[in-house]
Amino acid sequence: MVAAILGVAGTSDAAPVTPVSTLSPEQIIAARQASFDMSVMAMAEMKMAVKDGLDVKKQFYPAKTVARWARVLPTMFPAGTGQGATSVETHALADVWTDRAGFEKAARDYEAAANKLGELAQSGDSAAFAAQLAEVSKACDSCHDRFKLKY
Ligand code: HEC
Repeated sequence: MVAAILGVAGTSDAAPVTPVSTLSPEQIIAARQASFDMSVMAMAEMKMAVKDGLDVKKQFYPAKTVARWARVLPTMFPAGTGQGATSVETHALADVWTDRAGFEKAARDYEAAANKLGELAQSGDSAAFAAQLAEVSKACDSCHDRFKLKY
């Protein structure tokens, strides 16, 4: 019964679980753009905390949030969600799909930088946190330079 409720694969009476892939390309684009917008807000909060000399230990949450998003970022760029593929506007360049390895590496570098930022927040070392925050910003920019259309 539990198997049926959870839809465990391999049981014939399993209720179908709705996979994420049934999201429309438009919904996926909207979700990734919203996540990017929220990461700007998290970055702004951390930059403000540095500027105001606040306790960086309190910045663990936004740092961790950015790192968690970084980890799933490439999954929000499935085939069929590029420019011209849907009716909605996206600024993702075709290179996201033609240079997939490069795109995934940019996301991994970003994730590593954000994870380190979280660790430095926990350590309470404000100078190291501020320096690492600049590194995370650089990771955003270096991916945008290669994979995002300029406005
Ligand atoms: C691995 C690549 C990559 C990284 C790292 C990355 N971005 Fe992006 N970003 C993109 C791509 C590609 C788009 C275009 C998405 C679209 O329009 O569908 C985008 C779009 C955006 C947008 C516009 C969203 C919208 O509403 O259209 C903002 C804002 C943004 N990114 C901020 C950031 C910030 C801040 C960081 C770092 C904290 C970051 N990004 C890191 C690739 C990246």
